[in-house]
Amino acid sequence: MKLSDNKATLSFSDGSPSIEMPVYSGSVGPDVVDIRKLYGQTGMFTYDPGFLSTAACQSTITYIDGDKGELLYRGYPIEQLATKCDYMDTCYLLLNGELPNAQQKKDFDYLVTSHTMVNEQMQYFLRGFRRDAHPMAVLTGLVGGMSAFYHDSTDITNPEHRHIAAIRLIAKMPTLVAMAYKYKIGQPYIYPKNSLNYAGNFLHMMFATPCEEYKVNPVLERALDRIFILHADHEQNASTSTVRLCGSSGTNPFAAIAAGVACLWGPAHGGANEACLNMLEDIQRMGGLAKVGEFMEQVKDKNSGVRLMGFGHRVYKNYDPRAKLMQETCKEVLQEMGLENDPLFKLAMALEKIALEDDYFVSRKLYPNVDFYSGIVQRAIGIPVNLFTGIFALARTSGWIAQLNEMMGDPEYKIGRPRQLFTGPVARTVKAIADR
Ligand code: CMC
Repeated sequence: MKLSDNKATLSFSDGSPSIEMPVYSGSVGPDVVDIRKLYGQTGMFTYDPGFLSTAACQSTITYIDGDKGELLYRGYPIEQLATKCDYMDTCYLLLNGELPNAQQKKDFDYLVTSHTMVNEQMQYFLRGFRRDAHPMAVLTGLVGGMSAFYHDSTDITNPEHRHIAAIRLIAKMPTLVAMAYKYKIGQPYIYPKNSLNYAGNFLHMMFATPCEEYKVNPVLERALDRIFILHADHEQNASTSTVRLCGSSGTNPFAAIAAGVACLWGPAHGGANEACLNMLEDIQRMGGLAKVGEFMEQVKDKNSGVRLMGFGHRVYKNYDPRAKLMQETCKEVLQEMGLENDPLFKLAMALEKIALEDDYFVSRKLYPNVDFYSGIVQRAIGIPVNLFTGIFALARTSGWIAQLNEMMGDPEYKIGRPRQLFTGPVARTVKAIADR
């Protein structure tokens, strides 16, 4: 970051002396006011619940221009990465800062591929879960549990350990997600097949059985790979910030990523794809297209508590570029599967059309986000609804790890420790129980 000539002055109406704070510029995007000395100089904190105006770190990984609807990984537009690269290129880029050349790509693919198996003991750990457990509950446990299996990569302060943990996490997440699925439906686990690519291997572990040959469909493989690319990173979102905060205590990388998985589960974040598909299915059950208008009235009624899932974003105040790419993939997959007339897709298009023209959404700059179409794609591939967020977690692992590594390598890194405005009772005395 670069010190700007501009300076911020904070003055107070009670006559306290004003203070001057430095302003820093990044390579693009809003400048930041450096308030680190504020408490020392004034005894005051800043108040910003939800981090609406607070940059918690400097980062070189992902940039979003929410007004333009632009998303860049290491400077590359998401549209180019989604059409010219695969998920392995994207992982390499996020971790290393540059796209791999042909040899680097070959080596990286080989490295990841040779770590796809998980310790055999993990399946006994998995068996401890109820079969009807939500896959995200299972995944949170499995990912955290990895720290109990891979002792040689748990020192977060050691770059070599972090590198091994990064490769293990990226390589083993598809295996764990597929195992969680197979366990739920009572089928035998399918071991990774290293002749397949990353997405193809995942499809194989999900849908093959020991009884029959399973042939990976290239259209579905490409669609899944695109889902992985689009979900790989999204700068300082809730789960990424959780990973950073958790990792900032010096805990091991597996524990930090498990914290990210847990955070992602929520319906306002990664759980939105599942919530969005459930919403579409509910509208379909209520009467489908004929009920769209009625549903939208509920969404606009603040007392109903109903939100249009897959719409709106804290940062995007324009069409989420990932949603456009996902809509394209959605059409391809539905066509491939002979589902061009899929009623949920029609419903989604109708909801989108109304929302893009309705003043409620227009005035609040609410546009479709990535989750609006990703659920329809995954459902067409045959992925069960409650595994959608697990797929998101699988894809986001590369981003979480890249962000964690960046934080650990940052000389300004400190344990994350927010402050508070205390509004509870002041010091008082505990009364004997008879007097309470
Ligand atoms: N449906 C109806 N109204 C909405 C919606 C929605 N989906 N999203 C926001 N609003 C309204 C909200 O009621 C508020 O209205 P008002 O100003 O009159 O009070 C205004 O828009 C601003 O909303 P907010 O909740 O203050 O915005 P936020 O930045 O805190 O929340 C969000 C962002 C993503 C949590 C929210 O838009 C939402 O709940 N969307 C649905 C869930 C969803 O699709 N989440 C996936 C996000 S993309 C994937 C990811 O990155 O994880």
